[in-house]
Amino acid sequence: MRLRINRIVASVLVSIGVLSVPADAAVSPARNFSKKFKIVLTVVQEKCMACHTRNFNLPFYSRIPGIKEIIEKDYRDGLRALNLTGEFAFNKPLPGTISEAALAKMEWVIQNDTMPPAKFAVVHWGSRLKDGEKKTILEWVGLVRARYYATGTASPKMAREPLQPLPESVPVNFPKVDLGKKLFEDKRLSGDNTVACVGCHAHEKAGTDNRRFSEGVRGQTGIVNAPSVYNALFNIRQFWDGRAADLQEQAGGPPFNPVEMDSVDWDQIIAKLAADDALTGEFEAVYPDGWSGKNITDAIAEYEKILLTPDSRFDRWLRGKGYALTPEERSGYERFKAYRCATCHVGKAIGGQSFEYMDLKRDYFADRGSPLDSDIGLKGFTGKNEDLHKFKVPSLRNVELTWPYFHDGTVATLDEAVRLMGIYLSGIDVPDVDRKRIVAFLRTLTGEYRGRALRGSPVEN
Ligand code: HEC
Ligand code: HEC
Ligand code: HEC
Repeated sequence: MRLRINRIVASVLVSIGVLSVPADAAVSPARNFSKKFKIVLTVVQEKCMACHTRNFNLPFYSRIPGIKEIIEKDYRDGLRALNLTGEFAFNKPLPGTISEAALAKMEWVIQNDTMPPAKFAVVHWGSRLKDGEKKTILEWVGLVRARYYATGTASPKMAREPLQPLPESVPVNFPKVDLGKKLFEDKRLSGDNTVACVGCHAHEKAGTDNRRFSEGVRGQTGIVNAPSVYNALFNIRQFWDGRAADLQEQAGGPPFNPVEMDSVDWDQIIAKLAADDALTGEFEAVYPDGWSGKNITDAIAEYEKILLTPDSRFDRWLRGKGYALTPEERSGYERFKAYRCATCHVGKAIGGQSFEYMDLKRDYFADRGSPLDSDIGLKGFTGKNEDLHKFKVPSLRNVELTWPYFHDGTVATLDEAVRLMGIYLSGIDVPDVDRKRIVAFLRTLTGEYRGRALRGSPVEN
């Protein structure tokens, strides 16, 4: 019965041309782009967009009980797994809005031949991807990645890997960096002069505090786990829910958060800092217009640009030093890709490039219990229901040092983090032996800070 309804639905979909592209997803082909690009564009429009773009107008019969549930489920699940609304805007200069995470996801489904869904392809003739189309899309993914996202330091063989080496450095203004470092460590940014940024993002703890929830002024605790400040520069936005666009905007948050630093306003902070003649002299030499919230956060953000941890064993391996990883660690990386981990933990920061549902494949929140205010995720920032339970994918750089894990800080070991990721995000029970390999791989992501091993205590399991 179920199969019959599926068939009926599918043939109706085809006959009334439902699988055309909705207006808001229409793409104007870039003028000067290669033939390859145009093929990809056409294929994606014809064979993918219908299930992976928002504002898709469901047809009239979608209200018929029985049919309604099936159609709605496909569109809902498809959109949750990959939302291409706004992506593939090829009329914009590349990489336009094609995110690194979307590229990695496309690559994965084509390599593994899982899209369009089999049950759909069976009834919808011609929806399947032809071999030539697959080849073209994969070539194109590699091309876009190499051209727009790769850091350029990987060996030629690794240039198209979804994970890329971390840059050794980025250009900075050193006098600003020096000031930013002082302010990052200055307790006068807090209302009662007891808490500095570095208190919750400690160098000896790889830029975190190794606590479930951070402790702010007067011993108060927050509601979400503190991510590392190392490599945060590369996040598409800042905070678990992305409410700050960049590092400068982010740095304006904690000083006035009542449970973190609890200052009243910039005037209160600046009154204290301006009383410090030495610091004020230094500050005015760099910022002639003197103390302001804008200048303070600018300096802190500049300092955070040097908080990079390149040169992990994995980076060396990507740069062509084959001996840098053991066979177990290498197979861990292969498993990491095979289990879809690299479709979200992607790029040079190995994360930070997209927002994803923590309950993608199963209801993490119901299984865990004890609801937290922070579980709301991206919805807390955008106010949109569709963003409920979406979180910025954390970077996995130095992950053996940044315990405990997840936004709720509930996970104490890497083995458990990998197990839960398998169940809730990848939809797979990762076998013990593969978890061991993946954890071995994750431990190779610990880098160096200014030429020295990053400080911190490695998680035991
Ligand atoms: C009939 C609707 C439909 C069509 C057409 C479709 N998808 Fe999907 N897609 C889904 C659903 C449903 C999911 C959720 C996972 C699942 O159920 O397998 C999904 C998941 C995905 C994912 C996330 C990874 C995963 O496996 O969960 C990617 C990437 C993806 N699709 C890409 C594509 C591409 C590329 C095309 C075109 C070649 C395409 N899809 C065509 C419905 C569709
Ligand atoms: C009381 C502890 C505490 C203090 C003090 C603190 N932070 Fe944080 N920091 C956190 C927590 C917790 C989060 C995560 C909050 C969220 O996502 O909602 C965070 C997030 C961040 C992020 C975002 C990282 C990411 O991956 O999204 C950056 C960057 C950061 N803090 C820098 C700073 C700076 C700069 C200061 C000082 C101005 C500071 N923090 C002060 C606890 C603290
Ligand atoms: C669909 C996207 C997606 C996939 C697939 C995925 N992850 Fe994640 N990962 C996330 C998100 C989102 C979080 C943060 C979740 C939260 O805190 O609520 C996360 C968190 C983690 C963490 C904890 C990091 C920290 O600092 O808290 C680890 C470790 C991790 N993932 C490893 C993996 C591994 C290994 C796989 C493959 C088995 C995987 N992930 C698959 C999106 C994904």
